[in-house]
Amino acid sequence: TGTPLPHLKAPDSTLSLLREGYDFISRRCDRLGTDGFRTRLMLRPVTCLRGPRAARAFYAPGRMTRRGAMPGGVLALLQDKGSVQGLDDAAHRHRRGLFLGLMTPEGLDRARDLLREEWQAAGMGGREIVLAEEIGPILTRTALRWCGIELEDAAPRLRHEEFEAMIGGAALIGPGHWRARLLRRRSEAWAREVIRIARAGTAPPHSPLARLARHRDPSGLALPRDVAAVELLNLLRPIVAVGRFIVFSAHAMVTQPEVFAALPDTPRALEWWGDEVRRLYPFFPAIGGRVRERFDFEGQGFAPGDWVLLDLHGTDTDPGAWPDPLRFDPMRHAQARNAFAFVPQGAGPMESGHRCPGEALTAALLAEATALLHASRPEAPPQDLRIARNRVPAAPVSGMRLRLQEPPP
Ligand code: HEM
Repeated sequence: TGTPLPHLKAPDSTLSLLREGYDFISRRCDRLGTDGFRTRLMLRPVTCLRGPRAARAFYAPGRMTRRGAMPGGVLALLQDKGSVQGLDDAAHRHRRGLFLGLMTPEGLDRARDLLREEWQAAGMGGREIVLAEEIGPILTRTALRWCGIELEDAAPRLRHEEFEAMIGGAALIGPGHWRARLLRRRSEAWAREVIRIARAGTAPPHSPLARLARHRDPSGLALPRDVAAVELLNLLRPIVAVGRFIVFSAHAMVTQPEVFAALPDTPRALEWWGDEVRRLYPFFPAIGGRVRERFDFEGQGFAPGDWVLLDLHGTDTDPGAWPDPLRFDPMRHAQARNAFAFVPQGAGPMESGHRCPGEALTAALLAEATALLHASRPEAPPQDLRIARNRVPAAPVSGMRLRLQEPPP
């Protein structure tokens, strides 16, 4: 536009952000007719941005650091000092390679196989279930086994309680948040012990756990045990979080059965379905960055240290980037799409930058679960299917009550 981004009139927008949740940034962009605006959050000046042009600017290589870029509480629950998100440049690329190295075709297939086993072992057929309650334990067991951790030694129920608390507590302020922090500490103590035992040589060879335990930083040193433990949680916890997308997939399936029925009967179509779930349903709202190098965007100058929030969900549903953006239409992913308009897990190249390295694993698990759901011909009794958009992370009010049929043998 050439004119600097507008300043909101309100002195601080924290309460509006809490009230409006996923819609806070995009509503104001729509109203102002801009790709962003400036305001204060928790009294700190911030520039909020939305849309593919903003995503491209935000994800330009080396431009932003994640250090000092998220509110403190979120940081304490979802990442940690010394972990991959807090690193930059060569050290970051090296650590990131550890995660990317797990996303091989064999690794993804194994994750799908384990999910199918655990899904079937959970015995959900023939009774009414609340999917949001069933899926977490299934994914916790899948994640532990995928990493190479014996279920007998891992107390999966405690681990599930901890991971849910970290995922759900990230955006809470108050007692819920403190409970999540306590559980996080318990989880870290467990993970340090897992690393210690793995280093004594008992991890299955080539398992993610063994690789993490053996990983060396660029100077050849093993990771400190607490850092390795945090990275183990950075692997396990988000796998459990995929359950949120699986619940949304069920929501789409029962609210728009005709869309599912019209899909071509191919594995690709299941991925398009999953992509549309990831695009349209609210999960990860926005990502924070702090500017490292001076740049201009739409006539606005940015200086080192400036705080920027990129609206991921708002970009995924940007009316300027997507025709009929709120329509659930998996087939839109059958065509080439603007890579900076589809950003549910960040954007930019995989090898460097901070884009989620677990995206392929997320897509694989979501496609597998969607196939399993469909095969069990879900029926949804009357229930509250609304999704409150001011609760982060969002979920259907009912948790998705379903009646599933036993899968055919
Ligand atoms: C980073 C979303 C699943 C591991 C991220 C980021 C987002 C995200 C938005 C930050 C991108 C940025 O800073 O620019 C999600 C969502 C998931 C998911 C919505 C769905 C459940 C996973 C999975 C893994 C994973 C399954 C496991 C491998 C990570 C790691 C980072 C990350 C290690 C930090 C990467 C870095 O800083 O270089 N994720 N993610 N995520 N994610 Fe995911």
